[in-house]
Amino acid sequence: MERTLVIIKPDGVQRGLIGDVLTRFERRGLKIVGLRLIKVDRMLAERHYAVHKGKSFYDGLVEYITSAPVVVFALEGPDAIQVTRRVVGATKSNEAAPGTIRGDLALTVGRNIIHASDSPETAAFELGLYFGAGDLIEYGKISDNWVFPG
Ligand code: RTP
Ligand code: MG
Repeated sequence: MERTLVIIKPDGVQRGLIGDVLTRFERRGLKIVGLRLIKVDRMLAERHYAVHKGKSFYDGLVEYITSAPVVVFALEGPDAIQVTRRVVGATKSNEAAPGTIRGDLALTVGRNIIHASDSPETAAFELGLYFGAGDLIEYGKISDNWVFPG
C-alpha cells in the first residue's frame, strides 16, 4: 500500500471541478484518507515548490497556487503514487491524453487543475507538508475486498 498527496489547484476549485476530480479517484478504487480545503500561504508554497526555485515559471507558480483556496487530499492504495499520476495525465498540455484529468479538463501547463506527488520520497515530504500526525485516517471500506482482494 502507498499513500500520495493530491491538490486540486485554485483553477480547479474556481471552475467547480472538485467533485469531478474526486469522483475519478474514488471510482478508480483509491481510498481518500485525508481531505481539507485550505488557502496555501506563500511560505507553504515556497516549501512545496522549492525544487522549482530558479526556474522561469517559479514566481508564477507560487502566485497561482496561493491565489485562491485549494483542496488537498491523501489517497491510499496499491501503487497509489504512479496510478494517481497516470489519472492526472502528462504535464505538457498537448501530451495529456484524453481520459486523464488534464487531458479532459485543462488546456495549459500554467492552469493545469491538479498536482500529484511524483515519487515515494516526494509523497512522504508533501503529505507531511499538508497533514499533521494523526490527520490521516486508516479505515476499512466495505468495497476493499472487491478492489484489492487478499
Ligand atoms: P505537479 O507537480 O503540479 O503535479 O505537476 P508536474 O509534476 O506534472 O509538473 P512539474 O514539472 O512538477 O511542474 C510543477 C507545476 O509547475 C507548473 N509549470 N509551469 N510554464 C511552464 O513551463 C511550467 N512548467 C511547470 C505547472 O503548474 C506544473 O504542474
Ligand atoms: Mg511535480
